[in-house]
Amino acid sequence: MLEGINVNLRAMEPEDISLISDWLNNVDFQGRYTPLIQRSKEEMKKRFGEISDDQKLFIIEKKDGSKIGIILYFIVKGGPYNLLEIGYYMVLSERKKGYCSEAVKLFIDFLFLSQAIKRIQATTDIRNQASRKVLEKAGFTKEGTMRKALYMKGDWVDISLFSILRDEWKESKILKF
Ligand SMILES: CC(C)(COP(=O)(O)OP(=O)(O)OC[C@H]1O[C@@H](n2cnc3c(N)ncnc32)[C@H](O)[C@@H]1OP(=O)(O)O)[C@@H](O)C(=O)NCCC(=O)NCCS
Repeated sequence: MLEGINVNLRAMEPEDISLISDWLNNVDFQGRYTPLIQRSKEEMKKRFGEISDDQKLFIIEKKDGSKIGIILYFIVKGGPYNLLEIGYYMVLSERKKGYCSEAVKLFIDFLFLSQAIKRIQATTDIRNQASRKVLEKAGFTKEGTMRKALYMKGDWVDISLFSILRDEWKESKILKF
């Protein structure tokens, strides 16, 4: 368990698959700026439930143990390099309360402290202001725009690429160890 100030991050367990599946198949939970995806519980289990160093999903919990969102990382494989990317979702009733910003800061601490990586990246629809603010508050810098990079809800959309380097992070902000 990664303990923050208002939220904790808990590595996903097999019994979380059902909830994760319900969340990720709900178009309101997906939000306006993520692709429309529907997967069976079996597909979710295959995608998130298999033990792999290439991706890991955590449940964002409040201090009372209630589950309020998801944060994950995955390795983008390509050419001579592997890039670590993060993604996150919050339940509607707990948005705009600062929980995601804290979860991302905590996750960045965890990733730089546990993985020998130089950078962490995130991509987001250029219109997704909430996601952009979450990243900027956690110290990410916008690297540029990937034009027409993602097919989403019937259209090709522009995606912002953000990153934070280990040198910019410097030290743990929230995670105590
Ligand atoms: C993106 C998301 C995870 C943000 O979660 P959150 O818990 O609401 O984020 P926070 O409360 O930490 O808010 C961060 C900042 O964004 C702002 N914000 C939140 N929702 C916003 C919105 N809809 N429009 C504009 N700004 C918004 C907050 O006010 C806050 O800024 P502030 O600190 O200057 O006040 C949430 O909106 C969500 O789950 N969206 C759907 C899935 C998604 O888009 N995920 C990202 C994919 S890249």
